[in-house]
Amino acid sequence: MSDKPDKFIDDDGLRLDGRRFDEIRPMKIEIGVLSRADGSCYLEWGKNKILAAVYGPRTLHPRRKQIPDAALIRYRYNMASFSVEERVRPGPSRRSVEISKVSAEAFEPVVLTKYYPNTVIDVFTEVLQADAGTRTAAINAASIALADAGIPMQGLVSACAVGKVDGKLVLDLNKEEDNFGDADLPVAMTQDGEVTLLQMDGNLTPDELKESLEMLKKGCTEIFEIQKKALYTKFGKDPVLDVDDIDDEDDEGLAQIQVELDDSEGEDVELDEDYLDVDEELEEAVEVIEVEEDPDKKGISNLSDEKEDDSDEQ
Ligand code: CDP
Repeated sequence: MSDKPDKFIDDDGLRLDGRRFDEIRPMKIEIGVLSRADGSCYLEWGKNKILAAVYGPRTLHPRRKQIPDAALIRYRYNMASFSVEERVRPGPSRRSVEISKVSAEAFEPVVLTKYYPNTVIDVFTEVLQADAGTRTAAINAASIALADAGIPMQGLVSACAVGKVDGKLVLDLNKEEDNFGDADLPVAMTQDGEVTLLQMDGNLTPDELKESLEMLKKGCTEIFEIQKKALYTKFGKDPVLDVDDIDDEDDEGLAQIQVELDDSEGEDVELDEDYLDVDEELEEAVEVIEVEEDPDKKGISNLSDEKEDDSDEQ
């Protein structure tokens, strides 16, 4: 790791990479980069490089994990071994499990999971190159990949971090600011400013927190505009509906969503009933075994669960 810089902000108020205190790094978005995924996105943000892939909605195995009135959002954040200076050990770590959990929760308020009971929406994010802010970069990429997959959402989620260096708040930390700064506040929010993720490392005063949230709102709005522009460029229009178009009590809302999505690129997101019934008989058989074998004991039922889990992975 490099040494701590003497100063993070020069006499002209510019940061080490030449940005002003409230400026985000340049962001580049490519949509539909993976042919096997239902939706995908490659995103560069400063020196961060992220790949996101979305699969589903598809039947969730094992069945005991199914939610009868909603889809489960399963989110995986992973750093490639080669993404940072020191090799990252492959496989889940405490950090990646935590980031995966809070990132899934960042999407729960906006994804219309209630229309896809008993299914799972899988979101995979891979950090290919890391340079601070990878969890927020991954959320920005995942948001686009979900839209590309035609998953109905109330809107996009945009994410960014604020930190503190030389006693001053700065937007969208670079690596030096993240590693040696006094605070790191990653936040995700909807286009309406509803916060769906907030984490904090270090210390901020209540006033600084308030100011940080204002800066984050500005940063996330800029990111939202970049995301929206990328979607318009790819689809000719924004495939994510305006919140006002969705009426909770009215299925016309869903019909409207489907029409918009089906129009967007010939992609039909309507669930295939036959697909959902695949392995139904097998599952019934497994359930009988589970009852007879006592599900609490390790045995046939657990083995079958693992097998089903494996078959579900991409
Ligand atoms: O990336 P993010 O800011 O969301 O998470 P972090 O835990 O605050 O990590 C900040 C940065 O430290 C990452 O973006 C990487 O550049 C670096 N890092 C690393 O070099 N090795 C790790 N195992 C984890 C993070």
